[in-house]
Amino acid sequence: MEHYFSFNSKFVTFIVLISIIWSQHYSNVVEGRAHYHKKRSGKSLVPSSPASSPVPGDDDQTTPPSYETPSPTAPSDPYPYPYPNPTSDGPCIFDVTSFGAVGDGDNDDTAAFQAAWKAACAVESSVIHVPSRGKFLITSSIFSGPCMPGLVLQIDGELMPPEGPDCWPESDSKRQWLVFYRLNEFTLNGTGTIQGNGEKWWDLPCKPHKGPNGSTLPGPCDSPAMIRFFLSNNTKMSGIRIQNSPQFHVKFDGCDGVHIDKIQINSPQNSPNTDGIHVENTRNVGIYNSMIANGDDCISIGPGCSNVDIQGVVCDHSHGISIGSLGVHNSHSCVSNITVRGALIKNSDNGVRIKTWQGGSGSVSDISFQDIQMENTTNSIIIDQYYCFTKGCRNETSAVYLSGVSYKNIKGTYNNVRSAPIHFACSDAVPCTNITMSEVELLPAQGELVDDPFCWNAYGIQQTLTIPPIDCLQDGFPLSLGEHVVAC
Ligand SMILES: *[C@@H]1O[C@H](CO)[C@@H](O)[C@H](O)[C@H]1NC(C)=O
Ligand SMILES: *[C@@H]1O[C@H](CO)[C@@H](O)[C@H](O)[C@H]1NC(C)=O
Ligand SMILES: *[C@@H]1O[C@H](CO)[C@@H](O)[C@H](O)[C@H]1NC(C)=O
Ligand SMILES: *[C@@H]1O[C@H](CO)[C@@H](O)[C@H](O)[C@H]1NC(C)=O
Ligand SMILES: *[C@@H]1O[C@H](CO)[C@@H](O)[C@H](O)[C@H]1NC(C)=O
Ligand SMILES: *[C@@H]1O[C@H](CO)[C@@H](O)[C@H](O)[C@H]1NC(C)=O
Ligand SMILES: *[C@@H]1O[C@H](CO)[C@@H](O)[C@H](O)[C@H]1NC(C)=O
Repeated sequence: MEHYFSFNSKFVTFIVLISIIWSQHYSNVVEGRAHYHKKRSGKSLVPSSPASSPVPGDDDQTTPPSYETPSPTAPSDPYPYPYPNPTSDGPCIFDVTSFGAVGDGDNDDTAAFQAAWKAACAVESSVIHVPSRGKFLITSSIFSGPCMPGLVLQIDGELMPPEGPDCWPESDSKRQWLVFYRLNEFTLNGTGTIQGNGEKWWDLPCKPHKGPNGSTLPGPCDSPAMIRFFLSNNTKMSGIRIQNSPQFHVKFDGCDGVHIDKIQINSPQNSPNTDGIHVENTRNVGIYNSMIANGDDCISIGPGCSNVDIQGVVCDHSHGISIGSLGVHNSHSCVSNITVRGALIKNSDNGVRIKTWQGGSGSVSDISFQDIQMENTTNSIIIDQYYCFTKGCRNETSAVYLSGVSYKNIKGTYNNVRSAPIHFACSDAVPCTNITMSEVELLPAQGELVDDPFCWNAYGIQQTLTIPPIDCLQDGFPLSLGEHVVAC
């Protein structure tokens, strides 16, 4: 117990520290810059139609679509307007309002944003500025590169999509709203808010229990992910608030190099499918000092990810931090070197979770969950290798192989309404190996201790006694393993 409280006070210090950093950050509102390089002024610059882009992206979640190369005019006409000498002090600023954006929450500012993008894209280390007084409405847009490196989109005002499916233009993708495509060294930051207006999407009758009399109607149920980075490297994101996404809030796929610091994501607990940050086929990711409150996974790590470092994240009323789901439709999935440290996970359906489908292949290895505080979390520590949307999934002879998963200094309280706080359901055909537990102490938020942790086919060691005690981890290494494991 003593241990538990000392941990708590350490954690409180950590949270207080984050809050201080944040309040400083948010009071230090950057109201533009000293050096505005004036372009040839005003609306005469705005092309009558937005710059044409390739059309990536109306893809499904699993198959990467094929893309055309960027519009042929881009390379032959890289500097459409006369610019000041970009080597003079300070970056070039491209204010969206000088490209015709109105920012009254009503006017469609898409063309202005595309024009500002096109202009800034051609200038090294330039800043597209969305000023703080303004609500800018833009429709589903692809901001594509290649651009000169160091491009910044600084949002100090509010940015939002059309309100709900009825106002979504017919011709626009319903799977994505803001797409950043083929960029290198791009930064998205600012003190403003990206507002997703997700309410009407959450209430579509095809969403769980939103049909007549609480039913779920069949049929296509596409809802746009808010911010998607696709095939982009060395992306930075900081400061910004993101809220009420129709679907995933921020999504990275096919990226290398992601650095997220001090962002805030907010959606209600009952908003379906609103993962906070999702990464897939992406390497070298850092997610730091961020607060995520939402209705699905706080952070989800999909197939093909490695070298992911998560520190100082707070998850509230979410489905926790998840690796997976992996191996759906017999797919081959590899995830390795994932570290989650110094997190607070509260009022959540899961704490730290690894979920795979039956019938997949590949592996999850070198995973570390450390210094994590749980508060009123169901399934605080869970491995579920029987993940399935319906009850009818068959057991299969192949599975994603889990090995080298360590849980260290994970403490706090669980909400024991449904199940034991520690649950290792490894596959029949392919056991989990080398699970290490130390300083795991989980107590009921209220009511009685649930002291029957669940393990199936799970091998590993306890370095210290856990609370609740767990005696179902098997020692050593399973005899029959090799035949069903497909390497990465
Ligand atoms: C991103 O990096 C990969 C190598 O990791 C490279 O093949 C690709 O061209 C890069 N993309 C951009 C847009 O820089
Ligand atoms: C946004 O990023 C740019 C480039 O790193 C930086 O110069 C600027 O200060 C940042 N702005 C905010 C508000 O964080
Ligand atoms: C909803 O349930 C009520 C009462 O059970 C029933 O009268 C009504 O027909 C149902 N509506 C639909 C659309 O199923
Ligand atoms: C694991 O990922 C971290 C970044 O999170 C990286 O610094 C480290 O080099 C990686 N380790 C291996 C063995 O690749
Ligand atoms: C505990 O978490 C659940 C969500 O899992 C939430 O509904 C409930 O209100 C929380 N209880 C307290 C006391 O915060
Ligand atoms: C799959 O295997 C698990 C573990 O042996 C077992 O509990 C479950 O009932 C099986 N499911 C089916 C559909 O056979
Ligand atoms: C077990 O996993 C740990 C990481 O949690 C790793 O350092 C160690 O090398 C693994 N041991 C074996 C035998 O694979």
